[in-house]
Amino acid sequence: MVHVQFNSELLGSLKDKVVVLTGGATGIGRSAVIQFAEAGCKVVFGDISEEPARELESQLGPNVRFLFCDTASYSDQLQLFAAADSIFGSIDVVVANAGMAIHKDIFEASSDITIEPSMKEVAVNLTGAIFTARIGMHYLRKNKSKSGGKGDLVLVSSIAGFKESGGLATYTASKHGVLGLMRGLHTTAFPEGIRINVICPWMTKTRLVKGIEQGWHDLGLPENEPEDVARSIVLCATANRGTDEKIHPGAKMPFAGKILWISGGQAYEIEDAIQALEPQWLGEENSKTLAKGQHYLATQGTSWDADKLKAKKVNGR
Ligand SMILES: NC(=O)c1ccc[n+]([C@@H]2O[C@H](COP(=O)([O-])OP(=O)(O)OC[C@H]3O[C@@H](n4cnc5c(N)ncnc54)[C@H](O)[C@@H]3O)[C@@H](O)[C@H]2O)c1
Repeated sequence: MVHVQFNSELLGSLKDKVVVLTGGATGIGRSAVIQFAEAGCKVVFGDISEEPARELESQLGPNVRFLFCDTASYSDQLQLFAAADSIFGSIDVVVANAGMAIHKDIFEASSDITIEPSMKEVAVNLTGAIFTARIGMHYLRKNKSKSGGKGDLVLVSSIAGFKESGGLATYTASKHGVLGLMRGLHTTAFPEGIRINVICPWMTKTRLVKGIEQGWHDLGLPENEPEDVARSIVLCATANRGTDEKIHPGAKMPFAGKILWISGGQAYEIEDAIQALEPQWLGEENSKTLAKGQHYLATQGTSWDADKLKAKKVNGR
């Protein structure tokens, strides 16, 4: 793990950049909208919670726009991005933050299995993030490669993205999926100039954690303010934009394919250590063989797509 500290000197790199963010009405997303706006960004945010969103929009002025957008709806997300592109001319930073948890455990022994359970957590937290990534990358690709990069995609997962979380199995599956989305995209997105990073907040004082907040506090466990997690989103959006060698202290560059665990207001990068320690947890031989397979998949002109393979053969490549 590496402690990554926020260098506010990098905030200047966001001036006039255009940010699209999902779930910006309350909590972490709301703080992120405010921090991006204060850094001079133009922000378009979506949410289903209209009242606090409209209030935030009018508080922050004409550079911040709200559009109703159910993140689980592909057409809503298409409209959100199209609006941002048409109002502000381009999109530089995309944040998939919208999320929700259902606190009734569908796996409880006493629950009635004849009633189909809601899969809304998967639809919002995972399907929604996939939609944001797909449409967002389309717009990021349109940018002229400025200093080697086209833009940033920041995905908000959770501590439940990599740890056991009893009583929240569906939420946990959806948030593990968000790490999977980064790992599935990063190796091909990075050569295109798109940096994808993931935020995994631990307990953050928003309405999502009302049920556990008091007991947590009584035990003296570390807490995040929504502003702390929002700052880590801004950290990811600025990490690769520094000039004069300016970086966020601790950030291993290029800052892409990283996972930031946020605890007690601080950001810790954990993905590099997970990758580096693979020979320990997978075994040295297994790790070597796996590397060969990964190398083949990444470099030998192969494809999972049978049509692409056929086209390659026809073209003699
Ligand atoms: N609070 C925590 O401790 C914690 C921990 C780990 C991860 N997270 C994640 O952080 C993100 C932000 O959560 P938060 O803690 O600020 O909670 P929050 O409830 O204050 O914010 C979530 C936002 O997403 C919006 N939203 C919900 N469903 C939506 C939908 N279908 N379409 C569009 N917007 C929708 C909500 O209206 C709200 O504005 C979520 O992805 C959450 O899973 C939070």
